[in-house]
Amino acid sequence: MRKLVALALLSACFYTGCGDKSEEKEKTTSSVTDRRGHQLYMTNGCAVCHGDLGHGDGRIANTLRPAPRDFRDLSHYKRGASVEQIAETIARGIGGTSMPGYPHLTSQDRLSIAQHIVFLQNQP
Ligand code: HEC
Repeated sequence: MRKLVALALLSACFYTGCGDKSEEKEKTTSSVTDRRGHQLYMTNGCAVCHGDLGHGDGRIANTLRPAPRDFRDLSHYKRGASVEQIAETIARGIGGTSMPGYPHLTSQDRLSIAQHIVFLQNQP
């Protein structure tokens, strides 16, 4: 009987490739995070200023001075373009501009949004 179970496990590994499972899980997890970041980006009004794809062309962008810039242009970040730095910018905002702080969001939510910004940096 035990031999049969072992055999069943072994052949399950053979057909599905046990080693690949964790990779697959990682992919799913990161796309779930992306979706959450995107959702938070839309529901917290980021897109109204920054544009749906972060090109600096949101609905009210041309009323803002300074205007939001294109997230793909890494040389224009005053506070840094990494996930951690962007999460910090989201928490504090940028004084003297219309970029508001979001201290009321959880740090996990700020990280998810920041991950979404970094995702947008790499879009065409
Ligand atoms: C009312 C308009 C407005 C909203 C809403 C807004 N931003 Fe901004 N944001 C700006 C402007 C304007 C700048 C450019 C500020 C500057 O030139 O210093 C900016 C700058 C930034 C930057 C670049 C920071 C840097 O280092 O230079 C990031 C990243 C950013 N915003 C993310 C977000 C995210 C994420 C949200 C939503 C959670 C958001 N913004 C909501 C107007 C807005």
